[in-house]
Amino acid sequence: MKETVVSGIRSTGKLHLGNYYGAVKNFVQMQNDYNCYFFIADLHSLTTHPTPADLHGNIRHVLVEYLASGIDPENSTIYIQSDVPEIAELYLYLNMNAYMGELERSTSFKDKVRANPDNVNAGLLTYPVLMAADILIHKATKVPVGKDQEQHLEMARTFGNRFNRLYNSEYFPEPYAFSYSDKLVKVPGLDGKGKMGKSEGEANAVYLSDDPETIRKKVMKAVSDGGPTEENQPKPEPIQNLFDLMKVVSSADTLAHFEELYNKMQIRYGDFKKQLAEDMIITTAPMRERILEIAKDDAYLRQVAKHGALKARESAQKTIKEVRSLIGFKSF
Ligand code: ADP
Ligand code: TRP
Repeated sequence: MKETVVSGIRSTGKLHLGNYYGAVKNFVQMQNDYNCYFFIADLHSLTTHPTPADLHGNIRHVLVEYLASGIDPENSTIYIQSDVPEIAELYLYLNMNAYMGELERSTSFKDKVRANPDNVNAGLLTYPVLMAADILIHKATKVPVGKDQEQHLEMARTFGNRFNRLYNSEYFPEPYAFSYSDKLVKVPGLDGKGKMGKSEGEANAVYLSDDPETIRKKVMKAVSDGGPTEENQPKPEPIQNLFDLMKVVSSADTLAHFEELYNKMQIRYGDFKKQLAEDMIITTAPMRERILEIAKDDAYLRQVAKHGALKARESAQKTIKEVRSLIGFKSF
């Protein structure tokens, strides 16, 4: 039997290169090797954006971009989280065994509280429980995500194991973060600090749907500095970030070429950024074309979402039935 994979992306905006290299690229590879469930985490998006102006439009964007990146709805199951109410039911059961203390200690919770002190809702606190429900509902063991999600995976294992202990079973297997490379990927942003992300501001992220001119402009404006002042000097964070970006989009030769120029203090950041932008354009161009194409096809999108929901619910209903029985619910 093939192992089961589950992964999701929140419907809070367009997909960027971080989403692509951290998650979606793995999805595309994994669909041939495993039994895959890929979904759009629209319920999760409500934890930070409870009243989005265009919830449906955002979900549609991610669906289009999933398909444009190469996820095949026949080969894997693609669905929208809110189309599978069994996930919300499992979330409720798991919430009974998730403790305030451990939820409050989660790094992403603390970050979100800091960023948005006026919207510390219970959904935000229990975000990792909903994520555990997403994964456990299909009894998945492999979860393709970026480095930032490792702690959430650890929590999913905790909640699954605790459920098993409480109800005296070995029902849920342990899910682990997965990437085809030996390390989980962290794609940096263009603002000189931290990761590429939707919430980090428009200029920080390069989107799969950005046109070439937009990509060139964003990259040319990326934070850099006056250049190295000594040979073989360690790179400050903004420069290291640009090299890390080049590592994901450019060839090994190109990277080695600019590494050498940097080490010899001959690098010109204008040329370096130009090359980086062109390689980003080459990577994203085919996807951008498909995004524009697929976005026009309402009937296809409707059919994909409907088909995916049916397949996902079939698996989810089986789990919920067994979970109810393990907890002790019986019909009269
Ligand atoms: P964002 O962080 O932009 O809001 P999500 O939280 O929806 O995006 O992330 C969806 C997936 O993309 C997750 O698997 C996450 O690990 C991955 N991801 C997001 N940003 C990055 C990044 N900069 N580097 C690597 N992976 C990332
Ligand atoms: N928390 C993930 C993120 O922000 C998105 C997500 C929700 C997810 N449920 C999931 C990822 C289940 C993998 C599996 O990136």
